[in-house]
Amino acid sequence: MGVERVQAIASLSMSMDTIPSEFIRSEKEQPARTTYNGPVPEIPAIDLSDPDQEKLVHSIAEASMEWGIFQVVNHGIPIDVVSELQRVGREFFELSEEEKEAYAKPPGAQTVEGYGTMLQKEVEGKKAWVDHLFHKIWPPPSINYQFWPKNPPSYREANEEYAKCMGHVVDKIFTSLSLGLGLEGNVLREAAGGNELEYLLKIHYYPPCPRPDLALGVVAHTDMSTLTILVPNQVPGLQVFKDNSWFDANYIPNALIVHIGDQIEILSNGKYKGVLHRTTVNKEKTRMSWPVFFEPPSELVVGPLPQLVNEDNPAKYKTKKYKEYVDCKLNKLPQ
Ligand code: SIN
Ligand code: FE2
Repeated sequence: MGVERVQAIASLSMSMDTIPSEFIRSEKEQPARTTYNGPVPEIPAIDLSDPDQEKLVHSIAEASMEWGIFQVVNHGIPIDVVSELQRVGREFFELSEEEKEAYAKPPGAQTVEGYGTMLQKEVEGKKAWVDHLFHKIWPPPSINYQFWPKNPPSYREANEEYAKCMGHVVDKIFTSLSLGLGLEGNVLREAAGGNELEYLLKIHYYPPCPRPDLALGVVAHTDMSTLTILVPNQVPGLQVFKDNSWFDANYIPNALIVHIGDQIEILSNGKYKGVLHRTTVNKEKTRMSWPVFFEPPSELVVGPLPQLVNEDNPAKYKTKKYKEYVDCKLNKLPQ
């Protein structure tokens, strides 16, 4: 028998008001018990077209130190490019199980690419209410087209367009983050792999869930990447941990959400903070999101930038190959 997809479990649970027990979170994690009820602070919004570079650098650096997450508006990605990316992704998930399984991550494969469901149980043996598709979208030599759906037929074009547009946005953010550390603009980008920086797209598909009060979409985590840039659909669900509470992230329509990931935290020797986040699910609606993880090539060695380390500021993180970092994190070994 194949892997049980959450989408299949969700359609069986539709007429019920229960979910299988492995999806029921402990009281410490249940969103109904652990989401902050008071006024929700807005995650910082940054106008990426601001001609005042100093202001832009300051606001990106401040948001990355204080929050580890921000949203960008006037980012230059045309609305239709984003809505096409979303349409083709949604249409893929609406195909039959059989058609989707043709893109399943091969058992035992070394890479995360492919259609899948988290197999290992996580915190306290619980499972996440989400299926996914992972594939690289940039640079061209890194792409494995076998994981790009052929149906809908415009899937490829939509993803190629999005990848191209992403380049400018990520460059601008890297440059601001570098300048914000008092370094030359290209330093962080180069330390993250320069032109070999890989863009890994993930599509999250969170089917409707009869008990959104008890389940989680994605469990609390920080991203392993340098940066993550994502677009959600219109169903809210992203939550951010700040000042000891879980807050719903309210985002501006058509903004891109940017997460600082572990590798930027490490390179900056802790000046910028990786954001701790999780997602909730919805009773009636399917939630989807499209994060792109900007990852160093797996053999690249990443550690605190030497320019930021001295006697008064010793290195707070180990220096290691990105693939070793990923291995430790996935296997929950000490870093
Ligand atoms: C994640 O970043 O881990 C999930 C984001 C989302 O679904 O909004
Ligand atoms: Fe994440």
